[in-house]
Amino acid sequence: MNDRKGFGSNFGFLMAAVGSAVGLGNIWGFPNKMGANGGFPFLILYLALALCCGVIIMLGELALGRKTGHGAVGAYQSISKRFKWLGWLGIAAAALIFSFYSALGGYCLRYVVVNFGNLIGAEFGTNGVGGADVFQGLLSQPDVSIAFALAFMLITMLVVMSGVGGGIERVCSVGMPALFFILIICIIRSCTLPGAADGLKYMFVPGWAVANGIIDEAPGFWRVLTAAGGQMFFSLSLGAGVMITYGSYVKKDVNLSRSLSQIELFDTGVAFLAGLMIIPAVFVFSGMDGMSSGPSLMFVSLPKVFASMGVAGPVIGLVFFVMVAFAALTSCISIMETLVANCMEIFHQSRKAMSLTVGVLATAAAVVVCLGYNVFYFELTLPSGATAQILDLMDYISNSFLMPFISFLTCIFVGWVIKPQWIIEEMEASGHTFGRKKLYAFMIRYVTPVIMAVLFLQSAGVFNLVQELF
Ligand code: TRP
Repeated sequence: MNDRKGFGSNFGFLMAAVGSAVGLGNIWGFPNKMGANGGFPFLILYLALALCCGVIIMLGELALGRKTGHGAVGAYQSISKRFKWLGWLGIAAAALIFSFYSALGGYCLRYVVVNFGNLIGAEFGTNGVGGADVFQGLLSQPDVSIAFALAFMLITMLVVMSGVGGGIERVCSVGMPALFFILIICIIRSCTLPGAADGLKYMFVPGWAVANGIIDEAPGFWRVLTAAGGQMFFSLSLGAGVMITYGSYVKKDVNLSRSLSQIELFDTGVAFLAGLMIIPAVFVFSGMDGMSSGPSLMFVSLPKVFASMGVAGPVIGLVFFVMVAFAALTSCISIMETLVANCMEIFHQSRKAMSLTVGVLATAAAVVVCLGYNVFYFELTLPSGATAQILDLMDYISNSFLMPFISFLTCIFVGWVIKPQWIIEEMEASGHTFGRKKLYAFMIRYVTPVIMAVLFLQSAGVFNLVQELF
């Protein structure tokens, strides 16, 4: 049972949980979705959702894990056999996310190498090739993208194999503070560029973008709400059993309620800071076209920004991508840890054996994702109207479908089956009082599940379907 040792210190747990939450979702997803959804309206809805739903759901997940001492499947099973499948559903979401997250992690590694090449003027830099072509080249060359995904997977596997206290905690405790520091340096550079003020106004001044003709009309409420909702689940690592698993490693004397506020604050803070770094810079160099470039924002628009920064460009480019790759790594570790920890419990195997098995299966899935842009290329229209390839499809199923659905059921489970008092007792088991108990009980029973259900129905396309029928 030595394999199931938990976090050594409170700080270690905090950094591991922050490491899970802070990832591509914050640095890439948040600025990109905020850019595509009108700036300010997205920011406000995101903050509201994180407060009304994110905090409530994460609290339930962490407490479920700590009180039962099990991963997602074991946690639900130990309380009620009837709900075991909910744990499995979370594992399915984690597995789906894992397959594309490692492919994306591979892209980040590739960009670290390219930027290093730029810095030392080597062959393997961009060599004057434009940002869009470098990215297109990566997508269309399966051997390159697969090689980097493999490397990324290997690093993740090595850390997870070294265990919770030894590997995960150690990597996150050094890396997360460093990441924060680098981000601040990048923001200072970005916000002092001439013309950066427009990007800041786009983010913070309500109505500015429409009044100044930056966008023709404000994006619709439902569109912004679903974008903000999907972003919240993903960014806080909710609905995939991750926080249940991490919760199970936390010592009984830790003040969970305080840790929760810190995780939320860090996660939202980093997303916000990433917005502050990326949006003004992209506004300066490519205007609204850069903002609406969607997912290619980080791999196409940002390299353009770095390229036009003169001598400082290659250094900042390299530092930035090292930071992104690291953030992706700590998130990927949490997903793999969830899969490995649950498999260890279910199949009664060692950490090493399960890390290898999960690693091999996930590698196969990552290869399929990388091939989705070339060999297996197809175009599928999602209920949201967007065109999807394999990666987008996996993202859609996990993020827009499974996560709101699982979170809705978690609220029902906590609010109506085991009752909020069960969670409140666990929050107070450390001897700390849990303030706002009544508010929590009210939210988890009446408010959060309703918002979750609406988000689920909207992002699954049910509302649109009903509208079309009548
Ligand atoms: N939160 C991470 C990010 O923002 C991604 C992530 C890690 C995740 N673990 C997760 C997403 C579990 C959903 C579920 O990039």
